[in-house]
Amino acid sequence: MSPFRLTRTLPEDATGAALRADVRAGLTGSPRTLPPKWFYDARGSELFEEITALPEYYPTRAEREILLARAGDIAAVSGARTLVELGSGSSEKTRHLIAALGGLHTYVPVDVSESALAGAGRALAAERPGLEVHALVADFTAELALPDTPGPRLVAFLGGTIGNLLPTERAAFLASVRALLAPGDALLLGTDLVKDEKTLVRAYDDAAGVTAAFNKNVLAVLDRELGADFDPDAFDHVALWDAEHEWIEMRLRSRTAQSVKIPALELVVDFAEGEELRTEVSAKFRQEGVRAELAAAGLDLARWWTDEEGRFALSLSVAR
Ligand SMILES: C[S@@+](CC[C@H](N)C(=O)[O-])C[C@H]1O[C@@H](n2cnc3c(N)ncnc32)[C@H](O)[C@@H]1O
Repeated sequence: MSPFRLTRTLPEDATGAALRADVRAGLTGSPRTLPPKWFYDARGSELFEEITALPEYYPTRAEREILLARAGDIAAVSGARTLVELGSGSSEKTRHLIAALGGLHTYVPVDVSESALAGAGRALAAERPGLEVHALVADFTAELALPDTPGPRLVAFLGGTIGNLLPTERAAFLASVRALLAPGDALLLGTDLVKDEKTLVRAYDDAAGVTAAFNKNVLAVLDRELGADFDPDAFDHVALWDAEHEWIEMRLRSRTAQSVKIPALELVVDFAEGEELRTEVSAKFRQEGVRAELAAAGLDLARWWTDEEGRFALSLSVAR
């Protein structure tokens, strides 16, 4: 069994304050929005894992296919001794990469979901004797204090999670990732690609209703954490393709005119019948756009790999 450490960089209260600030800003603004990070309590993380196995949800399978084919190349180009993974969740696909990184000294999974981190971190430490696993409960959109570990460093950001950030947020995020790297260190980035609308919408609106349950889970988080009285059954799950921005939007549409109380914020939110709350944006990418966004942050695209069907891309870029 290897060493396993879990550090909470977010004090309990900081998370609560951030949730309150996000919910107040998001529900009093127009249109109403909530940031997707609040989906991921223990139940949300479980539901996301169920989504990754759905027949309609191709991104996980496509990204795993690329990782299996390219893990050796990634190891050769990066020579990583420290692997930092942002939004690591179950770390399930990362196992293939860790197995290929022969000289790896430390794995640093970073996630807001403590339950996902604890499960994945312990399993990995048990599987790979000699590998130090130092899990960080942290928000990857805030400044990260990484443990002092040997270079070269490889930062992985998989699952297409970068698409959940809006373009201006992505630019700030990539700049902050660049700041974690020394020249020659690398970023491994998973990006879902633009494709036909039907395939995209189905991936976010599955027949079994798991994505709908995941979407509504954010209301359960607000009910539990803020004492709100959202009734998840009073909202419909909506997934639609925005062709102008080339992103999927997940929304919750109010079935009726209703008032929701949020005692922790001393707030009452009135929803009109049919009014929508945006809960997630999931941008889809093209190679030239990814190259340009990386370059603007000081990262040079070195490799671009897709799955056989060209649905998803993994890119490796190197810090200037
Ligand atoms: C779409 S899932 C991807 C999980 C995994 N990387 C994969 O590829 O299957 C997004 C992950 O990022 C985490 N997450 C979302 N927003 C975050 C944030 N702001 N800071 C840290 N983790 C976050 C979630 O808890 C979840 O585990």
